Amino acid sequence: MKDKINWKSVIIVIAGLGALTLVAGFLVISNGWYNVGATSPHSLLVEKTLRYIMEQSVRNHASEVRIPPGINLQDPVLAENAIGHYSIACAPCHAAPGEQKASWMVLYPPPPPLTDSEVVENWSDEELFWIIKNGIKNTGMIALPPGHSDDDVWAIAAFVRQLPNMTSEHYRTLVETYQANSTHSTHGSVSEQNKQLKHAH
Ligand code: HEC
Repeated sequence: MKDKINWKSVIIVIAGLGALTLVAGFLVISNGWYNVGATSPHSLLVEKTLRYIMEQSVRNHASEVRIPPGINLQDPVLAENAIGHYSIACAPCHAAPGEQKASWMVLYPPPPPLTDSEVVENWSDEELFWIIKNGIKNTGMIALPPGHSDDDVWAIAAFVRQLPNMTSEHYRTLVETYQANSTHSTHGSVSEQNKQLKHAH
């Protein structure tokens, strides 16, 4: 006699396993057994899943970003506008040519070095713009604060795009020129620079 699959039992087993998983998940969460400390890495599965969720979310949301006419992320002049922003607001976490990230910046997930071409090439121009403008939830990744224009964001995206090929000498020169020419409060904002230029004329 041929064995027949007893669908009723299969459904009961699946429902039972589902309920058990829910109870186990509830116990782990409500008893605080999951370690949220930045010094305790996720399991590989959780880490890969969270990274996958982040990448898919960025790719989906960035599909609505349009590069404005005249913006080219390979343009060195556009990138140079962002030296103040990058050196103050990004380098402590993401390193810079010839500079490690700040030694006290112990974050999980760790901020990847944006001097590494593999890290930067993983993202399109539109995706870099989206990440820099919006930040990433539940990581240390900041969003650009209100008061910054999209021009500022494009300049920073251009800076990041060009960073892996930037020499430490060039980076140092840009930082020194920026420090000699600007006050801390403007930190290289394109809109602020435009305002200053208008005042100067
Ligand atoms: C306080 C630390 C911190 C600061 C400041 C910061 N970031 Fe991040 N950033 C992170 C972390 C952490 C991640 C990784 C997020 C993840 O893996 O989900 C990240 C991710 C990114 C990524 C995606 C890289 C990748 O593949 O994971 C880009 C691009 C980026 N940051 C650009 C910037 C820029 C540009 C600035 C400055 C305007 C900046 N970040 C400032 C912590 C920071």
